[in-house]
Amino acid sequence: MEIMLDVLGNLERTHTCGELRAENVGEPVILMGWAAKKRDFGVFTFIDLRDRYGLTQVVVSEETAKKAHAKAKNVRGEFVVAVKGEVFLRDEGAKNAKLATGEIEVHVNEILILNDAKTLPFELEKAGSQNLASEDLRLKYRYIDLRRPNLQKNLMMRAKALRKIREFMDKKDFLEIETPILLKSTPEGARDFVVPSRIHTGKFFALPQSPQILKQITMISGLDKYYQIARCFRDEDLRADRQPEFTQLDIEMSFANEEMVFRTMEGVLQEVFSLVEADFPEKFPRMTYAEAMRRFGVDKPDLRFGMELVDLSDDLRDTDFAPFASVLENKGEIKAIVAKGKADYSRKNLDELQEFVKRYGANALAWIKVGDETTSSLLKVLGEEKIAQLAKTSEAEKGDIVLIVAGKKSVVAASLGALRKAIAKRENLIPKGVYKPLWVTEFPMFEYNEDTGNYDPMHHPFTSLLDEDVPLFKRAIEDGEKDLLGEIRARAYDIVINGYEIGSGSIRVHQSEIQSLIFKAQGLTPEKAEMRFGFFLDALRYGTPPHGGFAAGIERLVMLLQETDNIRDVVAFPKTASAQDLMMDSPGDVDDAQLDELGITVKS
Ligand code: AMO
Repeated sequence: MEIMLDVLGNLERTHTCGELRAENVGEPVILMGWAAKKRDFGVFTFIDLRDRYGLTQVVVSEETAKKAHAKAKNVRGEFVVAVKGEVFLRDEGAKNAKLATGEIEVHVNEILILNDAKTLPFELEKAGSQNLASEDLRLKYRYIDLRRPNLQKNLMMRAKALRKIREFMDKKDFLEIETPILLKSTPEGARDFVVPSRIHTGKFFALPQSPQILKQITMISGLDKYYQIARCFRDEDLRADRQPEFTQLDIEMSFANEEMVFRTMEGVLQEVFSLVEADFPEKFPRMTYAEAMRRFGVDKPDLRFGMELVDLSDDLRDTDFAPFASVLENKGEIKAIVAKGKADYSRKNLDELQEFVKRYGANALAWIKVGDETTSSLLKVLGEEKIAQLAKTSEAEKGDIVLIVAGKKSVVAASLGALRKAIAKRENLIPKGVYKPLWVTEFPMFEYNEDTGNYDPMHHPFTSLLDEDVPLFKRAIEDGEKDLLGEIRARAYDIVINGYEIGSGSIRVHQSEIQSLIFKAQGLTPEKAEMRFGFFLDALRYGTPPHGGFAAGIERLVMLLQETDNIRDVVAFPKTASAQDLMMDSPGDVDDAQLDELGITVKS
């Protein structure tokens, strides 16, 4: 049936759909919004009118508003309507305490249908519930999915967080400086997105992986304290907490030491987390990278629950059980976690956990169940006495299970670190509404790259070394003892909250000689370093103050504030896990003429 659409003309809303309360009873009002739901009860038609601010129930009665009532019959889901009417108190039994406007309803005397809507490709109400429409479908129709109050709340929280950040940074004298998006490669460990130049055929810009070099240059320019809400672009494998383009709160400070950066970040996060009702510490505890790896197996430990890793290696030094003996001989480790009260894990449970740790490279998962009688997958090979000793070292009590992995240090850490998290999730050990921030410090400066045989900077090459490790660095470079690079620590630090890496930073190298040595250590020839970073090495020579900074991921912060573990929930127009925009269908083709202009031929 053809619907006659009305014209808005000069009509203006008097209120939003989330605004009316009991004190408005008796007022004439005009509301506009989307018909979220319509219920037809013969003489009465009820419509739930929705906008960004909330939902108001409007009622059209055949008796008092015959024409409006007839028109309301045509309204279907997501039609855009305007209603004129009067605010009434709902009957006691009809009040809805869950709704901010639940005490009132608007009795309509005129209704305008401002636009119709096609039948939706998925049901909005169900989109956010257990019966989620497929995410791909919702991303294709992102404009519809974004009508869901939950997603709108996420975006509102994001906007509030950004406002808090700007206010704080401004108060602390940080200058907001925008840096270009068309740039030269800025290494942050991912691939660059490149943009071909038409004017300089065959040459390319790179989109910034972060404004790292430019923010350092603002310090060389004497701008003293910089910040930016910066868009960053990284072509990397995506995960639940990664997008190919994302936003950072990026800061840099001159004459800064760690304490100054820490205070600034603690202050700004204090403001951001004041947006939700939760305890958030003024000062964050600190832990070195080495300690985090030893106790939690990861460099971003979730401190909301215990289950720390226990080292059983010393207890097993004398073992003649060949797999353990060979692990220890090869400088490996044998470590465990204790799952409290889980001695009743079935064979099937344990098989699942075994498969889980194998994904991280572990050969097997051994166990000890402590009960009236202690049983263990290792009983035959280690004997009762040793098993009792291991249970004791692990501080396992009756009813607990000890889960053990032996292997290379990195494998033990990765598999037990992940197992710890998986068990906490599965057993509901993680409290809600709790934030446990942490500084992780003294990261290794370099990590060995097995593919290239080089040592790559773990954070980025502009990071200073810990003073005590400078002699070691000199030996590594001057005496060619390359392996020593793996032992050098950096003045780099991360903020971790609830197991998420929220941000990273470092005190920077401010002397060009040391910067050149770091490029050399990572395997860049002087020619290559000059080609990629010559301008920067040169800039460092013109009076560079000591400086340091930080960058925090805005999406990850909002994920924590809104307690979602899907980054797409906090981005208005996100990309899929395979880096596509399903709504716009990008990346897409370009015309041959465009390619010709750029001098580009696509290999088929
Ligand atoms: P880093 O590379 O550690 O440091 O990035 C800082 C923070 O940005 C967030 N982040 C991401 N968020 C979403 N999707 C991604 N793909 C993504 N990648 C990173 C994380 C991360 O902790 N220039 C340095 C900072 C500095 O040294 O000042 C940098 O960018 O929350």
